[in-house]
Amino acid sequence: MIGNSSAPVRWRDGLAPGHERRGSELLIGGVPASELAAAYGTPLLAIDYDVFDAAIARFLQACAPHSIEIAFAGKALLLVALARHLKHTPLHLDVCSLGELAAAERAAFPPDRIGFHGCGKTDEELDAAAEGRVARVIVDNLEELRRLAARAGAAPVPVLLRINPGIEAHTHEFVRTGGGNTKFGFDTDGLAGALDVLGQSPGLRFEGLHAHIGSQIYDRKAFVENTRVLMERAAHAAAAGFISERIVVGGGFGVRMRPDDPDEPAVEETISEIARIAAQESKRRNLPPPQIGIEPGRALIAEAGTTLYRVMSAKREFGKPFAIVDGGVYENPRPALYGAYHHAYAAREDAQLVETIVCGRSCENDQLGTARLPSDLAEGELVAMCTTGAYTYSMAGNYNRFARPAVVAVRGGTHTLIARRETIDDVLRNDCDE
Ligand SMILES: Cc1ncc(COP(=O)(O)O)c(C=O)c1O
Repeated sequence: MIGNSSAPVRWRDGLAPGHERRGSELLIGGVPASELAAAYGTPLLAIDYDVFDAAIARFLQACAPHSIEIAFAGKALLLVALARHLKHTPLHLDVCSLGELAAAERAAFPPDRIGFHGCGKTDEELDAAAEGRVARVIVDNLEELRRLAARAGAAPVPVLLRINPGIEAHTHEFVRTGGGNTKFGFDTDGLAGALDVLGQSPGLRFEGLHAHIGSQIYDRKAFVENTRVLMERAAHAAAAGFISERIVVGGGFGVRMRPDDPDEPAVEETISEIARIAAQESKRRNLPPPQIGIEPGRALIAEAGTTLYRVMSAKREFGKPFAIVDGGVYENPRPALYGAYHHAYAAREDAQLVETIVCGRSCENDQLGTARLPSDLAEGELVAMCTTGAYTYSMAGNYNRFARPAVVAVRGGTHTLIARRETIDDVLRNDCDE
């Protein structure tokens, strides 16, 4: 069930959404951090379903007046339990691998609400699409289009062509790149070639166009520009006899990572701008108004996630305080991969805080970030890292043969395990003895 509130979730008193302090305890989704750590061990990813539901409700409310369809980008985080939760909402689901599809299917997520993404689909993945296990395939390149056409059966497979709009967006700015800097999708000539192939492929049905321009985008103008380019390409397609019933403008909506970040982008305004430009451009270009879709991942799940770590060592080297925690690059590669910031604080409240370098335990310089932690921080204390719901667990690996953490759902003081901690047997499962 999704919650009733569609109000934006907020940071309060320096604490992430869903966090509060009661006495000496930090509560996450109403559950003491110490209780979660004792029950499931650390590192532990806690997903607050109230925060998740509030983000879903906010997007639904923003999209409803414009009849915009929302698909959750499963790459941000997809567990069977989450897919089961999502199937009770009006959301669609994007998957980009057989593994993500299997998670959705295990949750009995309706296939007619699943889209298949990815820029290098395997034969098995294309077979799954051709067999009707998803509603549509978002095709990235000509080879994929031909391979899909070759296996399509009696019922035509609905296809969205992913275009490269030549826009690159990063947080506060976007640039028109001419498309040279990204591997994804068809440029203008490529689109014409793809439409030719479609025209000769009775097993495929052209549904429309798709573009995704980046992640953690605060600049509304980037979404507007993307919509405008999509409509321009839809006009090219229409001129070739292919009418776009559906235009998907991707995900990438930014989220707050720090207590004092503004509520940007205001989702409601961005969504209504997308709708306005799509309507304006379809009228101007004499196109039937398409169904507009968006596919946020991070903006729905990031703020619901908190990673709890236990301090293994609190030391001072060359005068600098370090906290070595029991996670690291293997369970959250984002800081190492692209310098992502995650706000963090100790479960224990303390007046004397010092800027501390928080590192994982990998054999890498795997700084997870810096945080203001108690000056007398000690081994065994808990540190909460915020906004870790998206692209942490889903990007985790087994570097150093560490076991991936458990994931627990929290809500209103209750907690339920939704992914168990890997065991060493899990880690070694694929090793062959001889
Ligand atoms: C095609 C596509 N759609 C949607 C998303 C979701 O982006 P975000 O999580 O930033 O909303 C991604 C992320 O990489 C993507 O590649």
